[in-house]
Amino acid sequence: MHLNVFTECSPAPQFVGMWRMPGDRTGTGYRSLEHWAALARKLEDACIDALFFADVHGTYDVYRGSWETAVRHGVQIPSIDPMPVVAALAMVTRELAFAVTYSTTYHQPYECARLFSSLDHLTQGRIGWNIVTSYLRSATENGLGEYLDHDLRYDRADEYLSVVRRLWEESWDDDAVRRDAAADVFADPSAVRQIDHAGTWFTVRGPHQCEPSPQRTPVLYQAGASGRGMAFAARHAEVVFLTLADPESGAVAMRKLRDQVGAAGRDPAGVKALQGSMVLIGRDRAEAKAKADLYHRLWSTEGQLAKWCGWMDVDLASYPDETPVDEVKNQGSQSFLGFLRGLTPDRAWTVGDVKYLISRPRRARRDAPVMLFGTAQEVADRMEQWLDVAGVDGFNLIPCPPTGGIDDICDLLVPELQRRGMFRTAYRPGQTLRERYFAA
Ligand SMILES: Cc1cc2nc3c(=O)[nH]c(=O)nc-3n(C[C@H](O)[C@H](O)[C@H](O)COP(=O)(O)O)c2cc1C
Repeated sequence: MHLNVFTECSPAPQFVGMWRMPGDRTGTGYRSLEHWAALARKLEDACIDALFFADVHGTYDVYRGSWETAVRHGVQIPSIDPMPVVAALAMVTRELAFAVTYSTTYHQPYECARLFSSLDHLTQGRIGWNIVTSYLRSATENGLGEYLDHDLRYDRADEYLSVVRRLWEESWDDDAVRRDAAADVFADPSAVRQIDHAGTWFTVRGPHQCEPSPQRTPVLYQAGASGRGMAFAARHAEVVFLTLADPESGAVAMRKLRDQVGAAGRDPAGVKALQGSMVLIGRDRAEAKAKADLYHRLWSTEGQLAKWCGWMDVDLASYPDETPVDEVKNQGSQSFLGFLRGLTPDRAWTVGDVKYLISRPRRARRDAPVMLFGTAQEVADRMEQWLDVAGVDGFNLIPCPPTGGIDDICDLLVPELQRRGMFRTAYRPGQTLRERYFAA
Protein backbone atom coordinates (compact mmCIF):
# COMPACT_ATOMS: atom_id res chain seq x y z
CA MET A 1 0.00 0.00 0.00
CA HIS A 2 1.15 3.56 -0.74
CA LEU A 3 0.54 6.49 1.58
CA ASN A 4 0.96 10.16 0.71
CA VAL A 5 0.24 12.98 3.11
CA PHE A 6 -1.47 16.02 1.58
CA THR A 7 -0.54 19.57 2.52
CA GLU A 8 -0.19 23.10 1.19
CA CYS A 9 2.03 26.05 2.08
CA SER A 10 -0.83 28.06 3.57
CA PRO A 11 -2.70 28.19 6.89
CA ALA A 12 -4.89 25.13 7.71
CA PRO A 13 -4.63 23.38 4.29
CA GLN A 14 -7.99 22.08 3.06
CA PHE A 15 -9.84 22.88 6.30
CA VAL A 16 -10.72 26.55 6.15
CA GLY A 17 -11.05 27.96 9.65
CA MET A 18 -9.03 25.31 11.49
CA TRP A 19 -6.05 27.66 11.97
CA ARG A 20 -8.11 28.80 14.99
CA MET A 21 -7.66 25.43 16.64
CA PRO A 22 -5.72 25.53 19.95
CA GLY A 23 -2.15 24.39 19.26
CA ASP A 24 -2.40 24.84 15.47
CA ARG A 25 1.08 25.26 13.97
CA THR A 26 0.07 25.92 10.35
CA GLY A 27 -1.04 29.52 10.93
CA THR A 28 2.60 30.62 11.10
CA GLY A 29 4.40 27.35 10.28
CA TYR A 30 3.36 27.45 6.63
CA ARG A 31 6.13 30.00 6.05
CA SER A 32 8.76 28.41 8.35
CA LEU A 33 11.43 25.91 7.27
CA GLU A 34 11.75 24.64 10.83
CA HIS A 35 8.05 23.73 10.75
CA TRP A 36 8.36 21.90 7.43
CA ALA A 37 11.62 20.18 8.42
CA ALA A 38 10.08 18.81 11.63
CA LEU A 39 7.02 17.64 9.70
CA ALA A 40 9.11 15.95 6.99
CA ARG A 41 11.29 14.14 9.53
CA LYS A 42 8.14 12.90 11.31
CA LEU A 43 6.73 11.53 8.04
CA GLU A 44 10.06 9.91 7.15
CA ASP A 45 10.18 8.17 10.53
CA ALA A 46 6.73 6.77 9.65
CA CYS A 47 7.99 5.54 6.24
CA ILE A 48 5.40 7.62 4.36
CA ASP A 49 5.81 7.49 0.54
CA ALA A 50 5.61 11.17 -0.21
CA LEU A 51 4.60 14.57 1.13
CA PHE A 52 2.17 16.01 -1.42
CA PHE A 53 2.13 19.81 -1.88
CA ALA A 54 -1.05 21.22 -3.40
CA ASP A 55 -0.74 24.73 -4.80
CA VAL A 56 -2.69 27.31 -6.77
CA HIS A 57 -1.90 30.36 -8.87
CA GLY A 58 -4.04 33.39 -8.12
CA THR A 59 -6.71 34.13 -5.54
CA TYR A 60 -10.20 32.77 -4.83
CA ASP A 61 -12.10 35.82 -6.07
CA VAL A 62 -15.21 34.22 -7.59
CA TYR A 63 -17.55 34.12 -4.55
CA ARG A 64 -19.39 37.46 -4.35
CA GLY A 65 -17.07 38.60 -7.16
CA SER A 66 -14.23 39.43 -4.78
CA TRP A 67 -11.15 37.98 -3.03
CA GLU A 68 -12.08 39.63 0.30
CA THR A 69 -13.83 36.54 1.74
CA ALA A 70 -10.83 34.37 0.84
CA VAL A 71 -8.39 36.78 2.53
CA ARG A 72 -10.61 37.18 5.60
CA HIS A 73 -10.84 33.42 6.18
CA GLY A 74 -7.36 32.40 4.97
CA VAL A 75 -8.55 30.42 1.92
CA GLN A 76 -5.19 29.39 0.47
CA ILE A 77 -4.01 32.97 0.96
CA PRO A 78 -1.56 34.02 2.33
CA SER A 79 0.69 31.24 1.09
CA ILE A 80 4.28 30.64 -0.03
CA ASP A 81 5.65 28.79 -3.07
CA PRO A 82 6.27 25.11 -2.22
CA MET A 83 9.21 24.69 -4.63
CA PRO A 84 11.91 26.26 -2.39
CA VAL A 85 10.48 24.30 0.54
CA VAL A 86 10.88 20.99 -1.31
CA ALA A 87 14.51 21.75 -2.14
CA ALA A 88 15.22 22.51 1.51
CA LEU A 89 13.43 19.40 2.77
CA ALA A 90 15.58 17.26 0.49
CA MET A 91 18.47 18.25 2.78
CA VAL A 92 16.82 17.07 6.03
CA THR A 93 15.46 13.78 4.66
CA ARG A 94 16.94 10.71 2.92
CA GLU A 95 13.99 8.63 1.73
CA LEU A 96 10.78 10.67 2.01
CA ALA A 97 9.67 11.78 -1.45
CA PHE A 98 7.85 14.93 -2.50
CA ALA A 99 5.01 15.50 -4.96
CA VAL A 100 4.52 19.11 -5.90
CA THR A 101 1.84 20.84 -7.93
CA TYR A 102 2.75 22.81 -11.04
CA SER A 103 0.40 24.31 -13.63
CA THR A 104 0.51 23.58 -17.34
CA THR A 105 -1.65 26.68 -17.92
CA TYR A 106 0.37 29.30 -16.06
CA HIS A 107 3.95 28.13 -16.75
CA GLN A 108 5.95 27.46 -19.92
CA PRO A 109 7.07 23.85 -20.56
CA TYR A 110 10.77 24.77 -20.93
CA GLU A 111 10.69 26.30 -17.40
CA CYS A 112 8.84 23.24 -16.06
CA ALA A 113 11.41 20.85 -17.51
CA ARG A 114 14.30 22.70 -15.91
CA LEU A 115 12.59 23.04 -12.52
CA PHE A 116 11.74 19.34 -12.18
CA SER A 117 15.15 18.17 -13.45
CA SER A 118 16.69 20.45 -10.82
CA LEU A 119 14.46 19.02 -8.07
CA ASP A 120 15.12 15.47 -9.29
CA HIS A 121 18.87 16.09 -8.96
CA LEU A 122 18.53 17.81 -5.56
CA THR A 123 16.27 15.09 -4.14
CA GLN A 124 18.20 12.26 -5.83
CA GLY A 125 15.10 11.01 -7.63
CA ARG A 126 12.51 11.63 -4.91
CA ILE A 127 10.26 14.01 -6.84
CA GLY A 128 6.82 13.82 -8.42
CA TRP A 129 4.79 16.40 -10.34
CA ASN A 130 1.08 16.89 -9.62
CA ILE A 131 -0.04 18.06 -13.05
CA VAL A 132 -2.83 20.61 -12.89
CA THR A 133 -4.42 22.76 -15.57
CA SER A 134 -5.55 25.29 -12.88
CA TYR A 135 -9.14 26.29 -12.22
CA LEU A 136 -8.47 29.82 -10.91
CA ARG A 137 -9.15 32.41 -13.59
CA SER A 138 -7.76 35.18 -11.35
CA ALA A 139 -4.18 34.28 -12.28
CA THR A 140 -4.80 35.92 -15.65
CA GLU A 141 -5.32 39.24 -13.85
CA ASN A 142 -1.67 39.01 -12.86
CA GLY A 143 -0.16 38.40 -16.29
CA LEU A 144 0.36 34.68 -15.77
CA GLY A 145 -1.29 33.64 -19.04
CA GLU A 146 -4.70 33.09 -20.59
CA TYR A 147 -7.63 31.16 -19.10
CA LEU A 148 -8.87 28.48 -21.46
CA ASP A 149 -12.13 26.58 -21.34
CA HIS A 150 -11.98 23.34 -19.34
CA ASP A 151 -11.35 20.79 -22.10
CA LEU A 152 -9.09 23.15 -24.07
CA ARG A 153 -6.87 23.40 -20.98
CA TYR A 154 -6.37 19.65 -21.17
CA ASP A 155 -5.68 19.77 -24.93
CA ARG A 156 -2.94 22.31 -24.24
CA ALA A 157 -1.69 20.12 -21.37
CA ASP A 158 -1.41 17.10 -23.70
CA GLU A 159 1.01 19.01 -25.93
CA TYR A 160 2.76 20.38 -22.84
CA LEU A 161 3.49 16.84 -21.63
CA SER A 162 4.88 15.76 -24.97
CA VAL A 163 7.27 18.76 -24.94
CA VAL A 164 8.58 18.25 -21.40
CA ARG A 165 8.88 14.47 -21.87
CA ARG A 166 11.06 15.01 -24.95
CA LEU A 167 13.26 17.50 -23.09
CA TRP A 168 13.67 15.04 -20.20
CA GLU A 169 14.02 11.84 -22.22
CA GLU A 170 15.51 12.77 -25.59
CA SER A 171 17.65 15.91 -25.32
CA TRP A 172 20.70 14.45 -23.51
CA ASP A 173 22.21 10.97 -23.82
CA ASP A 174 23.01 9.27 -20.53
CA ASP A 175 26.73 9.62 -21.18
CA ALA A 176 26.69 13.11 -22.69
CA VAL A 177 28.56 14.59 -19.73
CA ARG A 178 32.24 13.62 -20.10
CA ARG A 179 34.18 15.90 -17.68
CA ASP A 180 37.26 15.20 -19.74
CA ALA A 181 39.66 17.72 -18.24
CA ALA A 182 42.54 16.80 -20.52
CA ALA A 183 40.44 17.45 -23.63
CA ASP A 184 38.59 20.38 -21.99
CA VAL A 185 35.29 18.66 -22.77
CA PHE A 186 32.64 18.94 -20.11
CA ALA A 187 29.91 17.43 -22.28
CA ASP A 188 29.87 15.99 -25.81
CA PRO A 189 27.66 18.19 -28.04
CA SER A 190 27.01 15.24 -30.34
CA ALA A 191 25.24 13.53 -27.43
CA VAL A 192 22.96 16.52 -26.81
CA ARG A 193 20.21 17.60 -29.18
CA GLN A 194 17.43 20.06 -29.81
CA ILE A 195 13.82 18.82 -29.81
CA ASP A 196 12.59 21.42 -32.37
CA HIS A 197 8.97 21.18 -31.23
CA ALA A 198 6.53 23.28 -33.23
CA GLY A 199 2.94 22.64 -32.16
CA THR A 200 -0.43 24.29 -31.74
CA TRP A 201 0.44 25.85 -28.39
CA PHE A 202 4.22 25.75 -28.04
CA THR A 203 7.40 26.27 -30.03
CA VAL A 204 10.35 24.81 -28.13
CA ARG A 205 13.75 24.32 -29.81
CA GLY A 206 15.90 23.06 -26.89
CA PRO A 207 18.30 21.57 -25.96
CA HIS A 208 17.21 20.98 -22.36
CA GLN A 209 19.43 22.92 -19.95
CA CYS A 210 19.91 20.06 -17.48
CA GLU A 211 21.95 16.87 -17.73
CA PRO A 212 19.94 13.66 -17.13
CA SER A 213 18.65 13.40 -13.56
CA PRO A 214 18.04 10.12 -11.63
CA GLN A 215 14.44 9.70 -12.90
CA ARG A 216 14.75 11.97 -15.96
CA THR A 217 10.94 12.35 -15.89
CA PRO A 218 9.48 13.05 -12.43
CA VAL A 219 6.70 10.70 -11.31
CA LEU A 220 3.57 12.06 -12.97
CA TYR A 221 0.51 12.56 -10.73
CA GLN A 222 -2.87 13.81 -11.84
CA ALA A 223 -6.24 14.42 -10.24
CA GLY A 224 -9.03 15.20 -12.65
CA ALA A 225 -12.23 13.18 -12.53
CA SER A 226 -14.10 14.75 -15.44
CA GLY A 227 -14.32 12.82 -18.74
CA ARG A 228 -11.54 14.93 -20.24
CA GLY A 229 -9.57 14.78 -17.03
CA MET A 230 -9.69 10.99 -16.96
CA ALA A 231 -8.68 10.79 -20.63
CA PHE A 232 -5.65 12.96 -19.79
CA ALA A 233 -4.82 10.73 -16.81
CA ALA A 234 -5.14 7.59 -18.94
CA ARG A 235 -2.57 9.03 -21.37
CA HIS A 236 -0.03 10.50 -18.96
CA ALA A 237 -0.52 9.79 -15.26
CA GLU A 238 1.53 7.22 -13.36
CA VAL A 239 -0.35 7.97 -10.13
CA VAL A 240 -3.98 9.13 -10.17
CA PHE A 241 -5.72 10.83 -7.24
CA LEU A 242 -9.34 9.92 -6.95
CA THR A 243 -12.07 11.16 -4.65
CA LEU A 244 -14.38 8.16 -4.77
CA ALA A 245 -17.56 8.17 -2.70
CA ASP A 246 -17.43 4.60 -1.36
CA PRO A 247 -15.55 1.32 -2.04
CA GLU A 248 -18.44 -0.27 -3.95
CA SER A 249 -18.98 2.52 -6.52
CA GLY A 250 -15.22 3.03 -6.38
CA ALA A 251 -14.66 -0.43 -7.83
CA VAL A 252 -16.67 0.61 -10.91
CA ALA A 253 -14.65 3.83 -11.32
CA MET A 254 -11.40 1.88 -10.89
CA ARG A 255 -12.33 -0.60 -13.62
CA LYS A 256 -13.22 2.34 -15.88
CA LEU A 257 -9.87 4.02 -15.18
CA ARG A 258 -7.86 0.85 -15.87
CA ASP A 259 -9.86 0.23 -19.06
CA GLN A 260 -9.11 3.78 -20.22
CA VAL A 261 -5.40 3.29 -19.47
CA GLY A 262 -5.46 0.07 -21.51
CA ALA A 263 -7.32 1.84 -24.34
CA ALA A 264 -4.58 4.50 -24.31
CA GLY A 265 -2.09 1.72 -25.10
CA ARG A 266 -0.61 1.50 -21.61
CA ASP A 267 -0.47 -1.32 -19.06
CA PRO A 268 -3.65 -0.94 -16.94
CA ALA A 269 -1.72 -2.19 -13.89
CA GLY A 270 1.00 0.38 -14.60
CA VAL A 271 -1.00 3.15 -12.98
CA LYS A 272 -1.34 3.56 -9.23
CA ALA A 273 -4.63 4.91 -7.92
CA LEU A 274 -4.66 6.74 -4.60
CA GLN A 275 -7.92 7.60 -2.86
CA GLY A 276 -7.85 11.19 -1.63
CA SER A 277 -9.38 11.17 1.83
CA MET A 278 -9.75 13.36 4.87
CA VAL A 279 -8.47 11.43 7.91
CA LEU A 280 -9.55 12.17 11.48
CA ILE A 281 -8.31 9.75 14.16
CA GLY A 282 -8.62 9.50 17.95
CA ARG A 283 -6.91 7.25 20.48
CA ASP A 284 -10.45 6.08 21.28
CA ARG A 285 -13.95 6.84 20.01
CA ALA A 286 -14.46 9.64 22.49
CA GLU A 287 -11.31 11.42 21.36
CA ALA A 288 -12.23 10.95 17.69
CA LYS A 289 -15.69 12.36 18.40
CA ALA A 290 -14.21 15.32 20.27
CA LYS A 291 -11.96 16.14 17.31
CA ALA A 292 -14.93 15.86 14.95
CA ASP A 293 -16.90 18.25 17.13
CA LEU A 294 -14.01 20.74 17.02
CA TYR A 295 -13.83 20.37 13.22
CA HIS A 296 -17.56 21.18 13.06
CA ARG A 297 -17.26 24.12 15.42
CA LEU A 298 -14.34 25.68 13.55
CA TRP A 299 -15.87 25.15 10.09
CA SER A 300 -15.88 28.42 8.20
CA THR A 301 -19.01 28.48 6.02
CA GLU A 302 -18.08 31.68 4.18
CA GLY A 303 -14.52 30.40 3.69
CA GLN A 304 -15.74 27.13 2.28
CA LEU A 305 -18.11 28.91 -0.12
CA ALA A 306 -15.20 31.06 -1.33
CA LYS A 307 -13.10 27.90 -1.89
CA TRP A 308 -15.75 25.90 -3.74
CA CYS A 309 -16.80 28.84 -5.93
CA GLY A 310 -13.13 29.22 -6.88
CA TRP A 311 -12.79 25.49 -7.59
CA MET A 312 -15.86 25.47 -9.82
CA ASP A 313 -15.38 29.01 -11.22
CA VAL A 314 -19.03 29.69 -10.34
CA ASP A 315 -20.28 32.49 -8.06
CA LEU A 316 -23.08 30.62 -6.28
CA ALA A 317 -24.06 33.90 -4.60
CA SER A 318 -25.08 35.31 -7.98
CA TYR A 319 -27.75 32.65 -8.67
CA PRO A 320 -31.21 32.35 -7.06
CA ASP A 321 -31.24 29.21 -4.88
CA GLU A 322 -33.89 27.47 -6.96
CA THR A 323 -31.68 27.60 -10.10
CA PRO A 324 -31.13 24.03 -11.39
CA VAL A 325 -27.42 23.15 -11.27
CA ASP A 326 -27.65 21.87 -14.85
CA GLU A 327 -28.25 25.46 -15.98
CA VAL A 328 -24.95 26.55 -14.43
CA LYS A 329 -22.18 26.30 -17.02
CA ASN A 330 -18.68 26.32 -15.54
CA GLN A 331 -15.15 26.12 -16.88
CA GLY A 332 -13.53 25.43 -13.53
CA SER A 333 -13.27 22.01 -11.88
CA GLN A 334 -16.08 19.78 -13.08
CA SER A 335 -15.51 16.93 -10.61
CA PHE A 336 -17.70 18.31 -7.82
CA LEU A 337 -20.91 18.78 -9.74
CA GLY A 338 -20.12 15.45 -11.40
CA PHE A 339 -19.60 13.93 -7.93
CA LEU A 340 -23.01 15.25 -6.79
CA ARG A 341 -24.75 13.95 -9.89
CA GLY A 342 -22.98 10.61 -9.26
CA LEU A 343 -24.21 10.53 -5.66
CA THR A 344 -27.94 10.69 -6.62
CA PRO A 345 -28.29 10.65 -10.43
CA ASP A 346 -32.08 11.02 -10.38
CA ARG A 347 -32.09 14.13 -8.20
CA ALA A 348 -32.35 17.61 -9.81
CA TRP A 349 -29.79 19.53 -7.78
CA THR A 350 -30.29 23.26 -7.31
CA VAL A 351 -27.81 26.02 -6.48
CA GLY A 352 -29.43 26.19 -3.04
CA ASP A 353 -28.69 22.48 -2.50
CA VAL A 354 -25.05 22.98 -3.46
CA LYS A 355 -24.71 25.97 -1.15
CA TYR A 356 -26.30 23.94 1.65
CA LEU A 357 -23.90 21.01 1.08
CA ILE A 358 -20.80 23.20 0.90
CA SER A 359 -21.64 25.29 3.92
CA ARG A 360 -21.98 22.29 6.27
CA PRO A 361 -19.04 20.24 7.51
CA ARG A 362 -19.14 16.58 6.56
CA ARG A 363 -20.73 14.45 9.23
CA ALA A 364 -17.95 12.40 10.83
CA ARG A 365 -19.01 8.80 10.23
CA ARG A 366 -16.88 5.70 9.64
CA ASP A 367 -18.52 5.17 6.23
CA ALA A 368 -18.75 8.84 5.27
CA PRO A 369 -17.71 9.59 1.65
CA VAL A 370 -14.07 10.73 1.21
CA MET A 371 -13.43 10.45 4.97
CA LEU A 372 -11.48 8.04 7.18
CA PHE A 373 -12.79 8.54 10.72
CA GLY A 374 -12.51 6.82 14.10
CA THR A 375 -9.86 4.96 16.04
CA ALA A 376 -6.74 3.71 14.25
CA GLN A 377 -8.24 0.21 14.19
CA GLU A 378 -11.51 1.45 12.64
CA VAL A 379 -9.67 3.55 10.05
CA ALA A 380 -7.39 0.61 9.17
CA ASP A 381 -10.50 -1.58 8.73
CA ARG A 382 -11.99 0.99 6.35
CA MET A 383 -8.71 1.26 4.42
CA GLU A 384 -8.73 -2.55 3.99
CA GLN A 385 -12.18 -2.24 2.43
CA TRP A 386 -10.93 0.40 -0.02
CA LEU A 387 -7.96 -1.79 -0.97
CA ASP A 388 -9.95 -5.03 -1.26
CA VAL A 389 -13.29 -3.82 -2.66
CA ALA A 390 -12.37 -0.74 -4.72
CA GLY A 391 -8.89 -1.98 -5.65
CA VAL A 392 -7.11 1.30 -4.96
CA ASP A 393 -3.34 1.13 -4.39
CA GLY A 394 -3.23 3.50 -1.46
CA PHE A 395 -4.29 6.85 -0.09
CA ASN A 396 -3.57 10.55 -0.33
CA LEU A 397 -4.29 11.36 3.32
CA ILE A 398 -5.58 14.85 4.13
CA PRO A 399 -4.83 15.26 7.86
CA CYS A 400 -7.57 16.77 10.04
CA PRO A 401 -6.86 18.79 12.07
CA PRO A 402 -4.03 20.09 9.85
CA THR A 403 -1.44 20.06 12.66
CA GLY A 404 -2.39 17.25 15.08
CA GLY A 405 -3.70 15.12 12.22
CA ILE A 406 -0.17 14.45 10.96
CA ASP A 407 0.90 13.29 14.43
CA ASP A 408 -2.17 10.99 14.55
CA ILE A 409 -1.28 9.45 11.19
CA CYS A 410 2.33 8.81 12.24
CA ASP A 411 1.79 7.85 15.89
CA LEU A 412 -1.55 5.98 15.70
CA LEU A 413 -2.47 4.90 12.16
CA VAL A 414 0.88 3.81 10.68
CA PRO A 415 1.82 1.57 13.66
CA GLU A 416 -1.60 -0.14 13.32
CA LEU A 417 -1.11 -0.64 9.58
CA GLN A 418 2.42 -1.96 10.16
CA ARG A 419 1.13 -4.33 12.89
CA ARG A 420 -1.30 -5.71 10.29
CA GLY A 421 1.46 -6.06 7.68
CA MET A 422 -0.38 -3.57 5.44
CA PHE A 423 2.42 -0.97 5.33
CA ARG A 424 6.20 -0.96 5.15
CA THR A 425 8.21 -0.80 8.38
CA ALA A 426 11.30 0.45 6.57
CA TYR A 427 12.16 2.07 3.23
CA ARG A 428 14.31 0.31 0.64
CA PRO A 429 17.28 2.67 0.91
CA GLY A 430 18.10 4.88 -2.04
CA GLN A 431 15.03 4.09 -4.15
CA THR A 432 13.74 6.76 -6.48
CA LEU A 433 10.04 7.59 -6.13
CA ARG A 434 9.29 5.71 -9.37
CA GLU A 435 11.08 2.63 -8.05
CA ARG A 436 9.07 2.91 -4.81
CA TYR A 437 5.83 2.79 -6.80
CA PHE A 438 6.73 0.45 -9.60
CA ALA A 439 9.75 -1.67 -8.68
CA ALA A 440 8.24 -5.12 -7.86
C1 LIG B 1 -6.38 15.20 -4.33
C2 LIG B 1 -6.48 16.39 -5.27
C3 LIG B 1 -5.52 17.39 -5.21
C4 LIG B 1 -5.59 18.48 -6.07
N1 LIG B 1 -4.64 19.45 -5.98
C5 LIG B 1 -4.73 20.52 -6.77
C6 LIG B 1 -3.79 21.57 -6.64
O1 LIG B 1 -2.90 21.51 -5.82
N2 LIG B 1 -3.90 22.65 -7.47
C7 LIG B 1 -4.87 22.73 -8.43
O2 LIG B 1 -4.89 23.70 -9.16
N3 LIG B 1 -5.80 21.73 -8.58
C8 LIG B 1 -5.74 20.66 -7.75
N4 LIG B 1 -6.68 19.68 -7.86
C9 LIG B 1 -7.72 19.84 -8.86
C10 LIG B 1 -7.43 18.97 -10.07
O3 LIG B 1 -6.20 19.24 -10.61
C11 LIG B 1 -8.50 19.20 -11.11
O4 LIG B 1 -8.52 20.52 -11.50
C12 LIG B 1 -9.82 18.88 -10.52
O5 LIG B 1 -9.76 17.60 -9.95
C13 LIG B 1 -10.88 18.97 -11.55
O6 LIG B 1 -10.60 18.22 -12.60
P1 LIG B 1 -11.72 17.97 -13.65
O7 LIG B 1 -12.25 19.30 -14.07
O8 LIG B 1 -11.02 17.22 -14.74
O9 LIG B 1 -12.75 17.17 -12.97
C14 LIG B 1 -6.64 18.58 -7.00
C15 LIG B 1 -7.64 17.60 -7.06
C16 LIG B 1 -7.57 16.51 -6.18
C17 LIG B 1 -8.63 15.47 -6.26
